[in-house]
Amino acid sequence: MNKVVLPISMEGKTVLVAGAAGFVPSTLCEFYLNLGAHVIGIDNFITGSRSNIDLLSSYKNFEFHQHNIYERLPNFKDQKIDYILSMASPASPIDFAIIPVEIMRVNSEGTLKLLELAKEKNARFLEASTSEVYGDPEIHPQKEDYVGHVNCIGPRSCYDESKRFAEALTMSFHHKYNVDTRIVRIFNTYGPRMRPNDGRVIPNFITQAMKGEDLTVYGDGSQTRSFCFSTDLVQAIHTVLMSNDPTPFNCGNPDEYTVKQTAELIIKILGSTSKIVYLPLPKDDPKRRRPDLGKLQRVSDYAPQVGFEEGIRQTAEYFKSSL
Ligand SMILES: NC(=O)c1ccc[n+]([C@@H]2O[C@H](COP(=O)([O-])OP(=O)(O)OC[C@H]3O[C@@H](n4cnc5c(N)ncnc54)[C@H](O)[C@@H]3O)[C@@H](O)[C@H]2O)c1
Repeated sequence: MNKVVLPISMEGKTVLVAGAAGFVPSTLCEFYLNLGAHVIGIDNFITGSRSNIDLLSSYKNFEFHQHNIYERLPNFKDQKIDYILSMASPASPIDFAIIPVEIMRVNSEGTLKLLELAKEKNARFLEASTSEVYGDPEIHPQKEDYVGHVNCIGPRSCYDESKRFAEALTMSFHHKYNVDTRIVRIFNTYGPRMRPNDGRVIPNFITQAMKGEDLTVYGDGSQTRSFCFSTDLVQAIHTVLMSNDPTPFNCGNPDEYTVKQTAELIIKILGSTSKIVYLPLPKDDPKRRRPDLGKLQRVSDYAPQVGFEEGIRQTAEYFKSSL
């Protein structure tokens, strides 16, 4: 099988990133800006940060539009667009309870608008899906051909089901209109530019450990997660974007930790005096999560580069300056 060839420069290419003010999307924007692409960011700041856009705005090849993508997109009438990255979606379990309708709308109506734009511009389209499409998985580790175990009316359903819809819509545009599409299923990712109060496990534990507060573990902490550092994820997404396969790829880091181990490691790495406390496990919390990266590694040399300790240190440094 031919390996994906990664371009050393993206000069002359235009990349549109929906959700540009967010954690992963802003990291991706910077990656493409550094490769010389013209990057168009769109965001409505529902969960994104203005500081991420301020940082990106220091690049002369960055352009930003403040829009809610499921209401309308900016007018790109005469503009050439080569790549459209559909990254705009809140992704934290805290958001699932507060803005479930907005989440369903951005992943359905928002994705539809971006796919229509990709069709019009003859652009390559990438959907940022999630390991949540596997729900609380019955097989381990999760491979792309596993169809999942999702509760369609549970507390996470607004996210899980709308991402499943987004994948189905993406494949429908591919089959019906021959749009050049890609799908990445992203597993837990962390790193600088995450909101410290974002509510996901790593920012929770780091901020608690930094403040000397108890680390809150839900359940007995035996559930597992596999954490990927953001720059490794960007490399995986870029590889899939440059591949020629429209079917989904898992993206992440296969190193698996229990949540209890994660809390203990973060306390140790940050030299904190915090203790661990246990709270009831939320409904539908996945018990095990680890990507099978075999498919991605068959088409590329992708391997995560940033270890857990290094990643936690870099994230904590960032939080120190933003807390
Ligand atoms: N970080 C992870 O661990 C992870 C895991 C799986 C999937 N993903 C996916 O990656 C993408 C980015 O996730 P993230 O963790 O960086 O989240 P994030 O919340 O930091 O970024 C999402 C961005 O989308 C913007 N947005 C949301 N709705 C919008 C709308 N209607 N119009 C315009 N902008 C809108 C938000 O303001 C935010 O800036 C999401 O699609 C998410 O589902 C992330």
